[in-house]
Amino acid sequence: MFSLPPTPEDPVFALNRLFNADPSPTKISCGIGAYRDNSGNPTVLSCVKKAKDLIGSSTQNEYLPISGDAEFLSLSRELCFGSDPSSNVSSIQSLSGTGGLYLSLKLLSQIGCKKVYASNPTWGNHKSLSLNAGLEYSTYTYLDLTNLSSPSIDITNFLSDLSSMPINSAVILQACGHNPTGVDPTSEQWDMIVEKCRERKLYVIMDNAYQGFASGSPESDSLSIRKFLSSGLDFLVCCSYAKNFGLYGQRVGAVHVVSADSKNVVDAMKQIARATYSNPPKHGSDIVKTVLGSEELKKDWVREVGEMSERIREMRSKIREKLEETTGGSWKHVTDQIGMFSYTGLSKEQVMKCREESVYMLESGRVSVAGVNEGNLERICDVIGRAVGE
Ligand code: LMR
Repeated sequence: MFSLPPTPEDPVFALNRLFNADPSPTKISCGIGAYRDNSGNPTVLSCVKKAKDLIGSSTQNEYLPISGDAEFLSLSRELCFGSDPSSNVSSIQSLSGTGGLYLSLKLLSQIGCKKVYASNPTWGNHKSLSLNAGLEYSTYTYLDLTNLSSPSIDITNFLSDLSSMPINSAVILQACGHNPTGVDPTSEQWDMIVEKCRERKLYVIMDNAYQGFASGSPESDSLSIRKFLSSGLDFLVCCSYAKNFGLYGQRVGAVHVVSADSKNVVDAMKQIARATYSNPPKHGSDIVKTVLGSEELKKDWVREVGEMSERIREMRSKIREKLEETTGGSWKHVTDQIGMFSYTGLSKEQVMKCREESVYMLESGRVSVAGVNEGNLERICDVIGRAVGE
């Protein structure tokens, strides 16, 4: 008979459940990282709508190969690296970014990697995925946590932590739009990070979940990936098309393996995929392939992801303005940060006070700015103002 202790819920989805169960007509979700438009509604991009109309129905329910759709993968490489660098890059379609991380971490554990490091703080699922893949998990210094009001990367300790990782450890780096802090390394800092990873012979996994959301330009947001590519190091990139295409529930993603041995690495990942879920879903990758494969639809997409990113930037300015007015303190960090999230610096106690007033954010004080709009901004800031003022 089963006899199990209770399993703790995932914090992001638990918060979403609490939000959905809250009967308050004025409740606001700034928890899960899912884009909402200025009226608070989920967005279906117009390029996605057009692509759906173009996708034929006769083959839509067929199996994809275990490695996924080759054309989708080639277009994904092009987006990630600037062009399709076919020679020493091989790819496998994945169940969005999470599925790509799973394939990568499981593969690393199979080839003798023992330990994986992610930033402190990081997206909570990095730890769960690493442990689930059978790896030891630890963190490296990332943000200077002593000065959250003027956020910056603690590069000295970051590099020194990289230096002391055992050779053959794995390191998860977020390519852009760092979750949860909204703070990315500068171009010079990335150069130093790449160099350290080379020195320590680390297995690098780039988690590329927000391409387009950080700067508004998918090309600029791939700077870190392109630096790793030109360094000649072996590395893995896990791409998600959940946020930047608004295809959250479709689970569209890809892992690109950069290595002279990339084909064998992907073949080993195909074994893992076959023994886990067999092959990837098709509809989402059909959509992304149709958009990225059409000059016109790709232009629409670049514009639309730029607009989403711009709306978030506008909300950051307004939040800062309003909070500085109501609290009298500095909220400069809200506009210094980029991407979907703001690491507000609110304590757990202050977050709980906000929840009592039906404004939901993660316990860490992470606010999904994608959930803020002209209609709810005042209330969010009033509630935060009261929580920090008490
Ligand atoms: C988030 O961090 O809110 C998103 O990436 C959703 C998730 O899967 O956790």
